[in-house]
Amino acid sequence: MTKVAVWCRHEGDNIIGIGSNIPWHVKSDFQRFRRITEGKNIVAGQATYESFPNRTLPNRNIYVLTLDTNYEVSDKEHHFVVNDVSFFKDFEEDIYISGGATIYKLFMTGSAKLMPDIVVDCVYKGELNPELNGQKVDITPSIESLNKNYRQIMPDFELDNITTRVLIRKGEFVEQSVLKHIILSITNI
Ligand SMILES: NC(=O)c1ccc[n+]([C@@H]2O[C@H](COP(=O)([O-])OP(=O)(O)OC[C@H]3O[C@@H](n4cnc5c(N)ncnc54)[C@H](OP(=O)(O)O)[C@@H]3O)[C@@H](O)[C@H]2O)c1
Repeated sequence: MTKVAVWCRHEGDNIIGIGSNIPWHVKSDFQRFRRITEGKNIVAGQATYESFPNRTLPNRNIYVLTLDTNYEVSDKEHHFVVNDVSFFKDFEEDIYISGGATIYKLFMTGSAKLMPDIVVDCVYKGELNPELNGQKVDITPSIESLNKNYRQIMPDFELDNITTRVLIRKGEFVEQSVLKHIILSITNI
């Protein structure tokens, strides 16, 4: 299986959220995320899962990480509760790690067996939504791991004030069909 992490962070401060919201609205960012993850298994923390409209994303299986053993998902056929991240160490299918900060950190800085093979690092260069109040959610520990353990494999792709980079883990084999799917999802606008 291939593990892919996908995020969009703010340039410089590495913020991915304010409270439960993403602090920018760039249509092509949502569209790219949808193209990359549609028909796939995504992994999301409980807070991110609850930020999805109606706690769902069409055409995706969602693995919800929570420490709550009684957690109820909105769609028992396609959504699954996972209480221990080590469940993914021996998971056979591809997974797309989709946030938030706590979950990126679990995968990016935890056991070597959990580290993503591929990271889609999107960097937004515009203003943060000034109307949002709440705690800023940043992914600095994950970016430190990214800078140390990964290497960029395609040129920067620029669209709508967002730079997208694709990186793979140094020294690891990467499944070429997954890489192709990701690059086409990013560049086929
Ligand atoms: N810009 C982007 O690309 C992007 C992407 C995704 C999310 N976001 C933003 O990120 C923010 C949410 O991030 P967050 O860090 O606050 O929350 P999160 O990562 O979505 O979820 C945190 C939850 O994960 C569960 N958890 C933590 N450690 C765990 C472990 N070891 N095992 C199992 N479950 C565990 C806990 O759930 P329980 O409390 O239920 O135990 C915890 O409350 C929001 O603002 C969201 O909009 C941005």
